[in-house]
Amino acid sequence: MKNGLALFLGVFAALALSWAGLLLTAQRQFGSLGQFKDPADDMLYPQPMSGLANQGRLVYQDLGCVSCHTQQVRREGFGTDLARKWGARGGYARDYIRDQTVLIGASRLGPDLRNAGNTELHPYADADYFYSLLYAPASGAPGSMMPAHAFLFDIHPVAGRQPSEHALKLSSKFAPGPGLEVVPTARAQALVAYLMSLKDTYDYPIERTRNAAAAEEKHGEKPKEGGK
Ligand code: HEC
Repeated sequence: MKNGLALFLGVFAALALSWAGLLLTAQRQFGSLGQFKDPADDMLYPQPMSGLANQGRLVYQDLGCVSCHTQQVRREGFGTDLARKWGARGGYARDYIRDQTVLIGASRLGPDLRNAGNTELHPYADADYFYSLLYAPASGAPGSMMPAHAFLFDIHPVAGRQPSEHALKLSSKFAPGPGLEVVPTARAQALVAYLMSLKDTYDYPIERTRNAAAAEEKHGEKPKEGGK
């Protein structure tokens, strides 16, 4: 081929430039995002996860919870996430900077979990609730499509008269039988610590315009540039 080299270089340049463009634009938009220091209380947000919750994040990843649950709350005008109490506000890129692997998900067979531990939205969401749900989903939601994760628990005889502090409080239909108790393993404890850490309650003053812009866009007005 006569112009083989020129053709090769042309195709190479087109691919290399679009690849670099994609990477550099994302880097420019999100690469420099860091914690935000609130002048009101001198605290940094988002606050880091506890060590146990961070271990739980790996269990969540390991068990493929992301295949049925998203962690992304759409802002007003882009869906009914806020009406379904999946969040008190739309999500910001900054919310995710503490996650080494962002488990944003794509399929919503179950509810969004970005605010699973937000007790302002879900007052019932305590550790007992999460343990029972993981051990026997049907105990909380009859006919649930959520698979049981009973392998995250040990069933053993009650030692002495006093049941273990963490033993699950199950209704008789789901309880293993007299004299036995269901106790969460270390993996279950980490996973539940992670679920309880999921809450985007802090609203960054510098990000707020992003959510406001969406609402204005809905009413046909030109969206404002979001702050960084
Ligand atoms: C096959 C899909 C599927 C998988 C995998 C799955 N879930 Fe679910 N999950 C559901 C469905 C469906 C519901 C809704 C419960 C119902 O049926 O009412 C749910 C509900 C929940 C809820 C309750 C949310 C609320 O607001 O009350 C939590 C928490 C949860 N799942 C956590 C997990 C975790 C943690 C994992 C991984 C260990 C997981 N799920 C894996 C489908 C799934």
